Amino acid sequence: MKSYTDKTVLVTGASSGIGLAIAASLARRGADVILTARSTETLNDVAAGIKETGVNAHVFPEDLSQPGAAERLHAAVTLAGLEVDLLVNNAGYGRWGDFGEFDRADYGQMIRLNITALTELCHLFIPDMIARGGGGVINVGSTASFLPVPYAAVYSASKAYVLLLSDALRFEYAQRGVSIMTLCPGATDSNFRAVAATKLSANLGHGGDAPTAVADEGLDAFLRDKSYVVTGKGNKKFAWLPRLLSRDRVLNMVGHNFRKRLGR
Ligand SMILES: NC(=O)c1ccc[n+]([C@@H]2O[C@H](COP(=O)([O-])OP(=O)(O)OC[C@H]3O[C@@H](n4cnc5c(N)ncnc54)[C@H](OP(=O)(O)O)[C@@H]3O)[C@@H](O)[C@H]2O)c1
Repeated sequence: MKSYTDKTVLVTGASSGIGLAIAASLARRGADVILTARSTETLNDVAAGIKETGVNAHVFPEDLSQPGAAERLHAAVTLAGLEVDLLVNNAGYGRWGDFGEFDRADYGQMIRLNITALTELCHLFIPDMIARGGGGVINVGSTASFLPVPYAAVYSASKAYVLLLSDALRFEYAQRGVSIMTLCPGATDSNFRAVAATKLSANLGHGGDAPTAVADEGLDAFLRDKSYVVTGKGNKKFAWLPRLLSRDRVLNMVGHNFRKRLGR
């Protein structure tokens, strides 16, 4: 893909944070957007704002952690006659705290959103792209894709899955005109932290990269056909440190850091 102009892009998790910024940036670059998340009213407000810039914005609310959600979304988008050139699998959340602090139903929901829905949306939309001669997928991983994160164990494992799946699919589909990239943000100023650590957010501080900066760096990298991009200053080390240091050393560094941050 050489530009986003006149492309149709499906963005999951488009109601806030990085997904919202990606949708807005795509609209500025001339793409029509298809927005999904659970918050219908917010999505409608976002779509109204985007339409004012002169591109189309369609809203398909869906709880992607529910069984069958990816199929429902694909069917609704197809029925509406929309053809997705680029899929941005951004919706996701984490939990920070002791592994035992959160219940299994919560972890199940996280895995269904971060892993299952993302996988199913790739499986549903990529064949449509191939049939039309090509397209692209941006899967949102994390700096946590590269290393284990104690106290965010399920989340970091889910993001490692995103990176490995995306790399493998990138190879499989390169010959068929579908380019696949993993966008790996570091700490970003969104709702993520409040969702991840409702009881602890006061200990975790604020700040991080602006979602708009993450979105723009990610979208620029995709046009350069990168396999992955780690956004933000100072975050690149998360990709290469685990290759230089032993697994035990990395685990201890990250574990002690998070133990301290979470006040454990
Ligand atoms: N912020 C960070 O520090 C950071 C760092 C690395 C990676 N990331 C990744 O970046 C992505 C976006 O996160 P963010 O930072 O922008 O957080 P955010 O502000 O909390 O946004 C999360 C988005 O996902 C949607 N979502 C949550 N549960 C959903 C569900 N069950 N079905 C459909 N949509 C759902 C939310 O919308 P509704 O609530 O309306 O459904 C929202 O639009 C995530 O994959 C996250 O893991 C974030």
